[in-house]
Amino acid sequence: MSFNTFGHLFRFTTFGESHGPAIGCVVDGCPPRIPLTAADIQQELDRRRPGQSRFTTQRQEPDAVKILSGVFTDEATGKQVTTGTPIMLMIENVDQRSKDYSEIKDKYRPGHAGYTYDAKYGIHDYRGGGRASARETAARVAAGAIARKIVPGLNVRGALVQIGEHKVDRSKWDWSAVGGNPFFWPNSAQAKELETYLDGVRKSGSSIGAVIEVVAEGVPPGLGAPVYSKLDADIAAALMGINAVKGVEIGDGFATAAMRGEDNADEMRKPDAKTNEGRPVFLSNHSGGILGGISTGQPIVARFAVKPTSSILKPRKSVDKYGAETDVSTTGRHDPCVGIRAVPIGEAMLACVLADHYLRHRGQVGESAPWPQHRA
Ligand SMILES: Cc1cc2nc3c(=O)[nH]c(=O)nc-3n(C[C@H](O)[C@H](O)[C@H](O)COP(=O)(O)O)c2cc1C
Repeated sequence: MSFNTFGHLFRFTTFGESHGPAIGCVVDGCPPRIPLTAADIQQELDRRRPGQSRFTTQRQEPDAVKILSGVFTDEATGKQVTTGTPIMLMIENVDQRSKDYSEIKDKYRPGHAGYTYDAKYGIHDYRGGGRASARETAARVAAGAIARKIVPGLNVRGALVQIGEHKVDRSKWDWSAVGGNPFFWPNSAQAKELETYLDGVRKSGSSIGAVIEVVAEGVPPGLGAPVYSKLDADIAAALMGINAVKGVEIGDGFATAAMRGEDNADEMRKPDAKTNEGRPVFLSNHSGGILGGISTGQPIVARFAVKPTSSILKPRKSVDKYGAETDVSTTGRHDPCVGIRAVPIGEAMLACVLADHYLRHRGQVGESAPWPQHRA
């Protein structure tokens, strides 16, 4: 059975294909009386939208979102707020060019999902990849815009930290640079150098992979569960569920394999009422803000690796759906590095996991975790 629903208490179901009339989602479980307008959601969608630079696909989708249900004007404030009922969000598809796909209609694009869809369903919408198209992720970004409002004080942001062999210089990390260059890169000077690099990749008819880092600040300690719904496991699943993602790590991740215990374990100092709301102070954050599947109150840090776009001009060996060998060269409008637009998608998925766990935590233990009150 297919599964198109994310989450437990904060839950959304996405619908639609790349070349159908519309895509969208129904968000269920959002608490009532949270201020919400289409503009709040649009500002996040605009960050993911295609066609904003020569380094992303040239499809021109405005991704204009409509809220079809679940909001009402609060008489007390005059503001539009959530009502606690299902919120339906719809985004019309307006820039499909299905003929771009007629040439590869019966051929399997190596690295794309056509073969596995046929192996499973015996039919698939080949236009734009159908349900495997990253257009579906617009609905996740829209749901994420709502999720961001659920955990009080939560701030989720992300950046591209690697394209091909180019890695960010962490000593020059500048969050304020991220919104000012076409790569979501946290350093303006380095981003400029990447333009020449990516132009080269694009002009050679190829594509390139990337790594994205997402960070959540303002996460209260206590979110998560100790065994089958560990916060890190749920974040990994949510990020791995984004199209083209092939690897996820939390905190120091794979680098921990080369570390010693004394270098990895985050040391602690006594609670500091002024700077840390009376909670213990951690001297480092190798854990990425999660211990035992439960948030520590430190920033949550996750990275995910995105493979290079499979639709490239360079011919690749494949077969068609009748079993004959063929070559596939993909024309049409594709992202030369899908990692760029994956930044707001990763942020959205992290926000959704945190909103879901926040509501589940509140349901089980109430508004605040018992520590440190029980020690008074
Ligand atoms: C933001 C984003 C944009 C994407 N754009 C394209 C694209 O233009 N062409 C393409 O072939 N794949 C693109 N993809 C990747 C496919 O959606 C994905 O690789 C495909 O569904 C194969 O499945 P996989 O997720 O197992 O790799 C994109 C992925 C993301 C996250």
